[in-house]
Order: sequence, then structure tokens, then C-alpha cells
Amino acid sequence: MKAINKINILQKIIKDHILNKNTIGFIPTMGALHKGHLSLIQKAKHENDIVVVSIFVNPKQFNKQEDLDRYPHTLEQDKALIQDYANYVFCPDVDEMYPTGFQSTIHIGDLANILEGEHRPGHFDGMATVVLKLLHLCQPTRIYMGLKDYQQCLIVEQMVKDLDIPTKVVGVPTVREDSLLALSSRNLLLLPKDKKPAAQIFVALLKAQELILGGERDARIVERTIKAELEHISKKIDYVAVRSLSLETIPTIDQDVVILVALYLGGVRLIDNIIVRL
Ligand code: PAJ
Repeated sequence: MKAINKINILQKIIKDHILNKNTIGFIPTMGALHKGHLSLIQKAKHENDIVVVSIFVNPKQFNKQEDLDRYPHTLEQDKALIQDYANYVFCPDVDEMYPTGFQSTIHIGDLANILEGEHRPGHFDGMATVVLKLLHLCQPTRIYMGLKDYQQCLIVEQMVKDLDIPTKVVGVPTVREDSLLALSSRNLLLLPKDKKPAAQIFVALLKAQELILGGERDARIVERTIKAELEHISKKIDYVAVRSLSLETIPTIDQDVVILVALYLGGVRLIDNIIVRL
């Protein structure tokens, strides 16, 4: 695996691979890599000639400075974890991606204003800006996105469609700890005492799935039931939402749905979701 931190070097390497007609699988990340990231990378290795991983903690998508300041940085460990699966790791510094005078931002519409977007203003515009830059740099045949960040995956799909970017977005299922807690770089920040309650998030989502499969069709009742469960573990729940797969609000569950949750545990913000197929 070759580490690259300069844009012009990456561009030259990618150009050569495209001339050789190699398919390129790309996985954007912010580092602190775990088995969730690894599953995206392994899938990409399976489906493409070469695999490019980016590691860049993107300041533009953090709406709170303290969140950016305490985001874990584990670059050497990250490289060791992925070296057997990736051909290239692109890890630029902030000035390389956003040199002095940088001015452009991608603006996403309504899809970026709900759920995560409502609680993290500007987050998805910042995310889309960096992902678009990375797509231009890597020109991947396929980009791999985790369904753990369901709304993010949908927004990238929408942007790729809207802006005619010649790539395929591949959504990859969430990898979980044995406790069922979704793997996340932010789990490193959880206090030991919060680990057990954190595992209750997916338990509540599984209960909601059972409720729906058992015949409950009122989306608001399902939301209220999960919320009541989660209030035992968290004092700050940002949202519990039963939505269509394209994230529209629905009164009645008459189609496949996704149930999304965001809450705080000891100052750490966690998100999770479950797709329920009728
Ligand atoms: P990051 O949080 O590092 O996640 C990188 C990718 O890994 C995302 O597509 C995310 O959904 C996926 N992922 C994270 N945890 C996962 C899990 N437990 N199972 C499966 N996939 C998982 O998401 C970002 O970085 C950034 O917003 C980024 C897209 C890189 C833009 O800066």
C-alpha cells in the first residue's frame, strides 16, 4: 500500500490506472478506522482492480469546533489495519485540500435539512464538498458508503445523480460489536460506563422492528415506543424517526421503512438505524 499526501501525485497515479482501464474502488473516511470501515474496503477489493482509501478529518463538516478538536487521530494504526486491502491511502493535510483562498461549497437541498442536517447545520454541505473533491481526484468506478450513516449515503447518491458523476454508489450494511453497538470512531470517546447503555440503542431498534412486523402500522406510535425505551439511557435524544427509504415522513407504515436514531451518551453523539422490510 502506498501512502500519498499530495493531490498532484494522486492525480498522476489515477490517470495511469484509468489509461490501463483498471476499475477503481474508493472509500472516503476520516480515520480512526475500525472493522466497519474495513468491511467497505474489503468489499471494494473484491469488486475492483485497485482500491483507494482516503483519510481526512474534514473540518468543513464539523459544526462544532470541540467535536473537531477531539476527533480521534490514529493514522499509523489506520495504515496498518488496511495495508493488506488498499493499494493507496490518500491522507492530505488541511492546506492541501483547502488552500488559502478556497471558496467553493456544494449546497445540498431539502435532504440535507432534515434529521442529521437539522441538528448539525452545514454538516452535509461540508461533507458533500469534500466527497465531490475526492470523487474528482479518484474518479472511482465505485464509491463505498456505510449504511450506518444512512442519510449521508442517500445524499451522496443524490449528488452523484444530480451532478452526473460517472460512479456507482455502493451502500454497505452496518458492522456491529458483539453487543450490537454499531462500530463508530466516536465509540473511542465513550466512557466505560456508557458502553452498556449504548448497546441498548440497537436493542430498541430491533424491538421497533418486531412491533412493525407484528402488525403496528402507526409510525408515530412506533416512534413514541422507541423514544420511551431510549429515555432510560439518554437525557438528550436528538430524534427518533420512522421514515420511508427516501426519508420522507409517513403517517402509516405501508412500505419498507428506515428507523433512525440520534442521541447523546455522556457528551458523545451516537447515531444508528435499522431498515425494516415489510
Ligand atoms: P467516517 O465516519 O470515517 O466513515 C467513513 C465510512 O465508513 C462512511 O461511509 C461510514 O458510513 C462508514 N462506516 C462507519 N461506521 C460503519 C459501520 N459500523 N459499519 C459500516 N460502515 C461504517 O462518514 C465519514 O467518515 C465522512 O463523512 C466522509 C464520508 C469520509 C466525508 O468526510
